[in-house]
Amino acid sequence: MVLASTENKIKKDLKICCIGAGYVGGPTMAMIAKQCPDIHVHVVDLNQERINRWNSHDLPVYEPGLDEVVREARGRNLRFSTQVDQAIAESDIVFIAVNTPTKSFGVGAGRAANLEFVEKCARQIAAVSKGHKIIVEKSTLPVRTAEAVKRILLNSTKEATFDVLSNPEFLAEGTAVADLLNPDRILIGGESDEAVETLASVYSRWVSRDRILTTNLWSSELSKLTANAFLAQRVSSINAISALCEATGADVDEVARAIGTDSRIGPKFLKSSVGFGGSCFQKDILNLVYLCEHFGLKEVAHYWEQVVVMNDYQKRRFSERIVRTMFNTVSDKKIAVLGFAFKKDTNDTRESAAIHVCRSLLDERAKLRIYDPRVPEEQIRAELLASFADPMGSVSEKHKQLVASNVTVLPSAYEAANQSHGIAILTEWDEFKTLDRTRLLESMLRPAFVFDGRSVLNREDWRNDGFEVHTIGKS
Ligand code: NAD
Ligand code: UGA
Repeated sequence: MVLASTENKIKKDLKICCIGAGYVGGPTMAMIAKQCPDIHVHVVDLNQERINRWNSHDLPVYEPGLDEVVREARGRNLRFSTQVDQAIAESDIVFIAVNTPTKSFGVGAGRAANLEFVEKCARQIAAVSKGHKIIVEKSTLPVRTAEAVKRILLNSTKEATFDVLSNPEFLAEGTAVADLLNPDRILIGGESDEAVETLASVYSRWVSRDRILTTNLWSSELSKLTANAFLAQRVSSINAISALCEATGADVDEVARAIGTDSRIGPKFLKSSVGFGGSCFQKDILNLVYLCEHFGLKEVAHYWEQVVVMNDYQKRRFSERIVRTMFNTVSDKKIAVLGFAFKKDTNDTRESAAIHVCRSLLDERAKLRIYDPRVPEEQIRAELLASFADPMGSVSEKHKQLVASNVTVLPSAYEAANQSHGIAILTEWDEFKTLDRTRLLESMLRPAFVFDGRSVLNREDWRNDGFEVHTIGKS
């Protein structure tokens, strides 16, 4: 689609509302408000505690640079509240940025996206809207969800008319502010040129027009799932090779560098790890797999599912390597777990590889001493308890007891490593690269094992100082 004009046709006094004040809604809207001081942005959520934190100095999302962005716009043209109806009623553009987790029950359980929250938003929008509104899907959704949203909107009210656009978000956590400020592209899918242009005119205040791509609705929805599938596939591909490196004596970082200099392959997303985590990669691939199965494309579904299968293997392989190396038993041994977030520079732990590794080590009755610079103790405990939950969400007394007695959360890497038999690095926080090795070694038992699941340490230096280092992708 060609935009109506390449000029900035800025609509005056635009009012925007965003339903969902999470990792996407909060930062994305804060950036729009910062860059467009004349646009009123109202972010709403049902979760009062989250909203309270958005209105405080202690934001619910840790992102480098986000505090400054929020501070500049909040109270000027950026609001956070739980007044969902009022915000919708007052707005010209309504973003839907609610969670779309994998379904845990019923048809499609374990694969399909749970669209309950999106549908509720559509019904609420229909119930309180008058006049004309542009509804923007910001959440990641299965292809053709916009069709369902449109049908709900059109059939639920006669008092309002709507255009539905797909505008998926591509920010990565930890670099959200930089990604929002300087995105590779903004993708807008829609049927109405005018609605597409209105939304494009918002982004074009700070993103050049040649980076604002427009497509039909279905291409936009599918492009988001496909982008995440391709990114995750690269991680699984290099992780598959990491297993071969460990078996053969090749070094996965050297292999990544060698292939990454091929301009057709490129250097990004080739860092071997203990496995990808985060709320989206696995969920979006499983969603893609479900869609393919739905359309009878069994081979395509099977192909993409392998990305998740390989990731599960990588997480399992890492914890098995720890047990095997530590003389086939970690029972009652203290293991310092450094890093619990799914990547550095975020406090998000959803689907973090650390959860899976810790769970396996707890199954082996290890004593875990966990440190993460940004993740609070209650969140770590909640994630570990949830990892033992049955399909109905219940955790047995035995597992509650295990987490209570075998998990200690500590305020520094040094305290975590004190009197430990080994260290496992599960998140690539920068501070782990400059740890005081002498101090660590003095406090640890011998052999002082180090399992580097992110390949962040200089192996030679650590070995020369007396540690026994085992790095992902290195024999
Ligand atoms: P999140 O869980 O952090 O936030 C979602 C918020 O929506 C929650 O605070 C929840 O209380 C709120 N909510 C749910 N239903 C509501 C309703 N009816 N009314 C008001 N509030 C409601 O989720 P997130 O990480 O921000 O992800 C949101 C969407 O964006 C998902 O579809 C995800 O796939 C997609 N996405 C996420 C990222 C990311 O980095 N996290 C990046 C790109 C896309
Ligand atoms: C990812 C995508 O990068 C975003 O474009 C997308 O918007 C987002 O998912 C989403 O839809 O939620 P995010 O999950 O925040 O962003 O972070 P990534 O940097 O993609 O990392 C994902 C996981 O892969 C992390 O656990 C990371 O440690 C791991 N990873 C990444 C590797 O193990 N190796 C790499 O080379 C890159």
